[in-house]
Amino acid sequence: MKTESIKSIDLLSRDEAVKELEYLAKEIAYHDYRYYNLADPVISDEAYDALRLRNLEIEKKFPDLRRVDSPSHRIGAPPSPDFEKVKHRKPMLSLDNAFSDEDVLEFLDRIRRFLKLPSEHPIPMVAEPKIDGLSASLHYQNGRFVLGATRGDGQEGENITANLKTIRDIPLILQGNDYPDNLEVRGEVYMSKSDFELLNQKRLASEETPFANPRNAAAGSLRQLDPKITAHRSLKFFAYAYEALSGSTDQAQSDLLASLSKWGFPVSKEIQLCSSEDELVAYYKRLEKLRPSLPYEIDGVVYKVNDLKLQQRLGTIGRCPRHSIAHKFAAEKAETILSNIDVQVGRTGVLTPVAILEPVLVGGVMVSRATLHNEDEIKRKDIRIHDRVIIQRAGDVIPQVVEVVLSKRPATSQSFEFPKKCPVCGGEISQEEGLVAKRCTNGFNCPAQAIERLRYFVSRDAFDIEGLGDRHLENFYKDGTIHNLTDVFTLQKRDKNSLTPLRSREGWGIQSAHNLFEAINKSRIISLERFIYALGIPQVGQVTAKLLAKHYKAIEEFESASFEDLLTIEGIGMGMADDIIRFLETPEQKTLIDDLKQHITITPYEEPSTVESAISGKTVVFTGTLLTLSRSEAKSQAERLGAKVAGSVSTKTDYVIAGSDAGSKLKVANELGITVLSEQQWVDIVNQAAASAAA
Ligand code: IVH
Repeated sequence: MKTESIKSIDLLSRDEAVKELEYLAKEIAYHDYRYYNLADPVISDEAYDALRLRNLEIEKKFPDLRRVDSPSHRIGAPPSPDFEKVKHRKPMLSLDNAFSDEDVLEFLDRIRRFLKLPSEHPIPMVAEPKIDGLSASLHYQNGRFVLGATRGDGQEGENITANLKTIRDIPLILQGNDYPDNLEVRGEVYMSKSDFELLNQKRLASEETPFANPRNAAAGSLRQLDPKITAHRSLKFFAYAYEALSGSTDQAQSDLLASLSKWGFPVSKEIQLCSSEDELVAYYKRLEKLRPSLPYEIDGVVYKVNDLKLQQRLGTIGRCPRHSIAHKFAAEKAETILSNIDVQVGRTGVLTPVAILEPVLVGGVMVSRATLHNEDEIKRKDIRIHDRVIIQRAGDVIPQVVEVVLSKRPATSQSFEFPKKCPVCGGEISQEEGLVAKRCTNGFNCPAQAIERLRYFVSRDAFDIEGLGDRHLENFYKDGTIHNLTDVFTLQKRDKNSLTPLRSREGWGIQSAHNLFEAINKSRIISLERFIYALGIPQVGQVTAKLLAKHYKAIEEFESASFEDLLTIEGIGMGMADDIIRFLETPEQKTLIDDLKQHITITPYEEPSTVESAISGKTVVFTGTLLTLSRSEAKSQAERLGAKVAGSVSTKTDYVIAGSDAGSKLKVANELGITVLSEQQWVDIVNQAAASAAA
């Protein structure tokens, strides 16, 4: 090979070029691994540069021979007009948070209860730093990096392969030969503290706005349409999980991390196997101390059940796995002057006082506003204008005013008078008994509420209408083009007869108006869960909207929901049920839903495609005490295999699984002649179904 690599490029045949490019890709990948992952290079920088130059020169002569795993991708591909969407094979989830040692204990107890393990039963856990960056998914085929994506909304991300290829410690070719042929690796892209400082210095020097923190800098750098910009931003990567889509796989998180490292992925050095609660707490304390001296930002630690089979059994709840939790570090604090108090009106009319601050750096982020929650909070903390206050911020949470530094209270400090009328529309303010929040009662007639509600209605998780940004919505509301939610869907028709059609207005043209109408038309078919979310019912976010859609299946059923029935849904409590009923019974909201239905199609809830198995589509009822499974595990296992779990026995029931002490449900099942299974028979069926589904 050596003799070939010094052959003059002019004399190189095509076949020789193919061979040498293959050699160079592997050789350079190996030296990257030695340098970036092991920090133990085995050749000089000059020798390494010579290899890369040789690779470039051969590619220059034979451009069509450039390999997908060529080291020249590190420099960055030509810019692309847009990012393609990539559907994740499995959703990219979030982590539930713990803020105290008690939360961690509760997390472990929850796991034990779910797995039906006795309290005190040891559950070996892996503790890892929680890197403050962005998650990415990387696909490898036969050891070659072929596709990389952002998390996006968890279901669908963006194809950022070309950008990820520029990150030096992401291997283009895997090391060794025992990696699965088809592999998906997940991990965190981040920017080191020093690279962040350097980048911001450069930005300031060229009069560009500096990034607020390393995470934003990493995000801004990764989502560049021009990979050459990404290539200049010194991003880094830590792998924390993989899934083999073919071949065998590790059985424990600790082994999985060791495999990732062996294949050439950077894995944090601060990872530790813990066998007791005490060890987890000690790990947390150690990392909290270490935090300032680490070269990268962390915002907590993550605990994961080490046994991957148990992880699988634990499954997910909402958007989070049950097997892991993020234990967040305490918020960072700073002192500044509160120069004024502003009152904002939100989507549901709630008035929120906001502290206007002299800008101050809190944990690397410039903060100039902080929430004061409500009038009571201002009184309780005795916050006055011109006071010196302590601000805190934790992760993505909105900064808060913790307390007033009373010893520094100036003589000029002024108490704050909470407005008696809505500060935006002058409307009446109401306060419900027992609640602290004050609301503007003007609903859609209050511009602040209307605009917030419109913004929410067209947002990504709701109707997802592109092209209706904040500025346009505000203008449309002000000039009367859109005055209620239904107006969005009549816009095009009205525009046809308008004397001032959209295309002729400032900031619009034929193409942009056309694009907006297209986007609106595309959104006319909407799933029930998105529709419920889009309505903006107080307290009903995405998770609740999904629970409601799952329970009621069709919009008509949801519209006639009763308070009692809502309470039967796991995850919906009295307060939420109350808000939902109140919303559904308000005449304006009823009219709104009826009007919207004239213009859109709401598709009924569809169960996510679960694996096909012998019990798909069957309805089962559990009764009595199960020995090996907790009720929650039995339920989630059945649902994963496509079965429906019902609470009572009827003629629609296919199987009743009777544990010990089964009572009336078993009696009904026998009377109706429904197949009754023992716990063991059920476990056998599930195992068989799981095996055939996996095959
Ligand atoms: S495991 C279910 N491990 O934290 C998601 N995540 O708050 C599995 N993160 O989206 C993630 N360091 O981007 C895991 N050691 C670590 C992590 C980590 C940072 C991020 C990740 C995730 C977010 C959730």
